[in-house]
Amino acid sequence: MTKISIVSIAHNALSSRDVDQLRKLFDAEYLRDFGAWDIDRPYGYAPHDVHAIARVGESVVGHVGWERRTIEVGQGEVEIAGVGGVLISERVRGQGLGNRLMACAKQTMVDAGGIEFGFLGCREKVVPFYESGGWYRISAAERSISREGLPVEAAPGQPILILPLESTADDWPVGDVDLRGRAW
Ligand SMILES: CC(C)(COP(=O)(O)OP(=O)(O)OC[C@H]1O[C@@H](n2cnc3c(N)ncnc32)[C@H](O)[C@@H]1OP(=O)(O)O)[C@@H](O)C(=O)NCCC(=O)NCCS
Repeated sequence: MTKISIVSIAHNALSSRDVDQLRKLFDAEYLRDFGAWDIDRPYGYAPHDVHAIARVGESVVGHVGWERRTIEVGQGEVEIAGVGGVLISERVRGQGLGNRLMACAKQTMVDAGGIEFGFLGCREKVVPFYESGGWYRISAAERSISREGLPVEAAPGQPILILPLESTADDWPVGDVDLRGRAW
């Protein structure tokens, strides 16, 4: 059986070898449809403060990233970790690695302190993957900055998922969401 190791690395502590390996992982999946991967603005999305990375030997075979941000929800503010760049290499999917990396990312959010919820948006098809790891779907209108840098608003209904860290899912406030920047 292949030995897979999981580590978490702060964005500014990534080595150039880590970045090269991450680029290989992302290019294999997205180069044809989305062009070159840029670690500081991946496909036009927001960058990450922390990277949970799965390796087989030197090769990176999985990634989850997150960024701390204070966003607006309803009349108030919520401190979140916005999650993105969730990708498992095709050859090791379906073995629980996605869930393991998400669990690692969650632990780093808890360790960072003061973050109330994990937060992400995804395609409809992938919702069951996140729900299997303890994420909850919510419904809200969402304002953000698009991948092209323009203000956009999505009507309620598109998949938004939250992960309670210092609270329960019921503590998520009612109201529209403003990401105050790009999604992840
Ligand atoms: C989605 C993805 C990260 C899942 O990784 P994985 O290592 O194969 O997932 P796991 O083996 O940990 O699966 C955990 C659970 O999620 C479910 N699941 C896995 N992939 C899924 C998918 N694509 N859609 C829906 N459910 C999925 C599994 O059935 C499993 O459920 P179980 O615990 O009841 O058996 C992986 O398929 C991937 O990288 N896909 C391409 C990129 C992508 O879509 N990323 C998400 C962007 S929002």
